[in-house]
Order: sequence, then structure tokens, then C-alpha cells
Amino acid sequence: MKNIYFDNAATTFPKPESVTDTVYRYMRENGSNPGRSANKRSIEASEIVFNCRELLADKFGISNPLRAVFTLNATDALNTAIKGVLTKGDHVICCGMGHNSTMRPLHLIEQDGIIELTSIGRTQVTTADFQNHVKSNTKLVVINHASNVTGDVQQIKEIFEFCKNKGIITLLDAAQTAGIIDINMNSSNIDILAASGHKGLYGPAGTGILLLNDSFDFSTLQPLKTGGTGSLSESFAHPDFLPDRFESGTMNIPGIAGLAAGLSFLNDNYNESSIISHKAGLRDLFIEGASSIDGFTEYRSGEINTGIVSFNIDGVEPSRISMLLDENHAIMGRPGLQCAPSAHQKMGTFPNGTMRFSFGLFNNMTEINIAVDALESIVKKVRK
Ligand SMILES: Cc1ncc(COP(=O)(O)O)c(C=O)c1O
Repeated sequence: MKNIYFDNAATTFPKPESVTDTVYRYMRENGSNPGRSANKRSIEASEIVFNCRELLADKFGISNPLRAVFTLNATDALNTAIKGVLTKGDHVICCGMGHNSTMRPLHLIEQDGIIELTSIGRTQVTTADFQNHVKSNTKLVVINHASNVTGDVQQIKEIFEFCKNKGIITLLDAAQTAGIIDINMNSSNIDILAASGHKGLYGPAGTGILLLNDSFDFSTLQPLKTGGTGSLSESFAHPDFLPDRFESGTMNIPGIAGLAAGLSFLNDNYNESSIISHKAGLRDLFIEGASSIDGFTEYRSGEINTGIVSFNIDGVEPSRISMLLDENHAIMGRPGLQCAPSAHQKMGTFPNGTMRFSFGLFNNMTEINIAVDALESIVKKVRK
């Protein structure tokens, strides 16, 4: 039985061949540490890393590639942004559809009495929501660009324009949209963007990005970590320049080489509309087929979707659906709360959550038809 992978919102699989080839080639032929030695291979590794920064700057509309910082994952980038920007007495507005990678750091520093936090309770936020909650001490607005539970995309442009006019720092969690939706940090007034390299950008696991807009004063962002950077080695003071300020220790160079290959793969083969329409086609076909199952409900609240379907079937727990799909049909999705409990509270699906399928560029219509048949047969068995 062929495995069917519908868990691309967690991490995309498979990766393009050019990505795996590039990682392998770096490990076999280079394997050195950029910025740490002056030998040929180390210089070549620095070029690999810089090339990836250039691809990122180009893709997300910033002009200085040194403003593309590498992190371990989106969580690492979000923690750096949140904890690095906020100080005692600041007020933050976030969205209730957020992932734990923003909600947990924000709640932690709220509990520690450092910040005041307002979480907007609606599934789709509007500028009015922010106008209603902004205060004189509002320093940061954090928006989850697309929910990892429903795939619904938030309309950020007007909200961030409002924030810019108020002097509020804007942080976009683009973990679910980078590589899927076109994002221009300049025209959308995004001060800081955090994303995974291993989801829609098709890089290897263990890659993440923190992008700082050209206009953002990065001296106001404190690094979470300090240490060796290969620069200013004579000093105990951590470098205050980019990207070293936020990149301590040896980087995930095979991962970054692979991420550059993922970005090139997207640039060479796709544009936003071809990605969205491929995923929408799979999503629509799945909903059309699964809707005939008695008691099938899917959850959705927005116009644009990243290719995620969250659903429930009356009388069958999501965890049971997932187990039976995996064991009997080799279909992999993700059940439960998907690290976004407050999103489920808003959707009325807490605490059991939903079953989630998230489609990728390598999924096809045949796989969708197999999944619908599999669900029908599971429901028949469970209800008999
Ligand atoms: C919306 C959102 N933000 C952040 C993250 C965290 O991403 P990472 O696993 O790269 O840390 C995820 C992961 O699923 C996510 O969906």
C-alpha cells in the first residue's frame, strides 16, 4: 500500500529532489563551517548561506539580505521576536487563532507580570478589532497569518497599516503561509516576519527564518542567545550588527543549503496562484467527496485557504479516525488540537479537536479519492 502524506502543515514531505541532493552534496563535498575559517570550503559555505539570504530577501520584499536571519524553526524566530522586543509595562495584541509558539511565550511573560496581553477572540480579525483594543502602551501586534487548524488566511494589510501609523511593531507568524501566499514585507508593513523553512518553503526540518524589514530598527530587538559568531572574537561583547546579533553558534548549514534549493524550486516552478489553485482543487475535491458521509463537518471561516481541511465525523473521535487511517489505509494526517487550543475553543471543537489533512504540492487527486473511500469504510465499520 502506498503511503499518503497529508501532514504538510507540520512539515512538507517529500522534499523536492533538488533539496535532498543539495543537502547530500554539501555534506559529502563541503561540510565546513562558514565564517569560522578562511579556507576555500569555509568561504564556499559562507556563499551558500549568503545565497539563501538573498533568495529570502528577494522573496519577501526586503532589500538587505543581511536582514534575513536563520533560526532553528518558526518557534525560535517567534520567541526571539516576542521576548526580544517587549519590556516591562508593554501591551501586546494577538489573535486567538494563534499557535502555541506565540501563545505560550506571550502568556508566560504576561504571567510574569511583564506585559499586558489582549487576545482577539474572533476567527477572522479586522482593523476595527485592533482599533478597539489599542492602548497608549501597545508596543506589539502579533498576527498568525494563517491558522494551522483551518488554513484560513487573515487579511493583514490594512491592520498593519493602522499599526504603522500608531508606531506599533508588527510581527507576522507566517509559518503556514511562507511559500504559499506572496508576502511583501515592505508593502504590507510587516516589521518582523517569522516562519519555518521546513513547511511551504520546502527546506529541511530544523530550519527557520526571522526576517527584519529594512525600516525596522533592529537595535530595539534584543538577542535571545549570545555566543560565538566568528566575528569580533577579541571581545566579550556580542556583535551588534546583522546577522551576527541573532546568529550565535554553528548554523544548520546543510539545512540552509537545502532551504535555498527549496526556494529555487518554488521560484522555478510555481507562483502564488498555481500553488493556491493546486491546493484549492485538492481541498474542494475532498470536501465534495467527504460531504456525503453522514455527520461530516468541516471548519472554515475565511476566503483564502492554504490547503488545510479540519473536520469531524459524528461519533468517531479524531484520534480514532487518525489511527484507523494510519493503520489500515497508510494515510497520515494530524488529529487533536494541533498546538492551537484557543483556536479550537473559538471553533467549539475543544478539547477533542479535529482531524486535519494538510495538502502539499506533491499530493494529487487520486490520493484524495483514496482518502474519501478510506473514511467511508472507517465510518461504516465503526457504526456497524
Ligand atoms: C501557525 C504556526 N506557527 C508556528 C509554528 C511553529 O513552527 P516550527 O515547528 O517551525 O517551530 C507552526 C507549526 O506548525 C504553526 O503552524
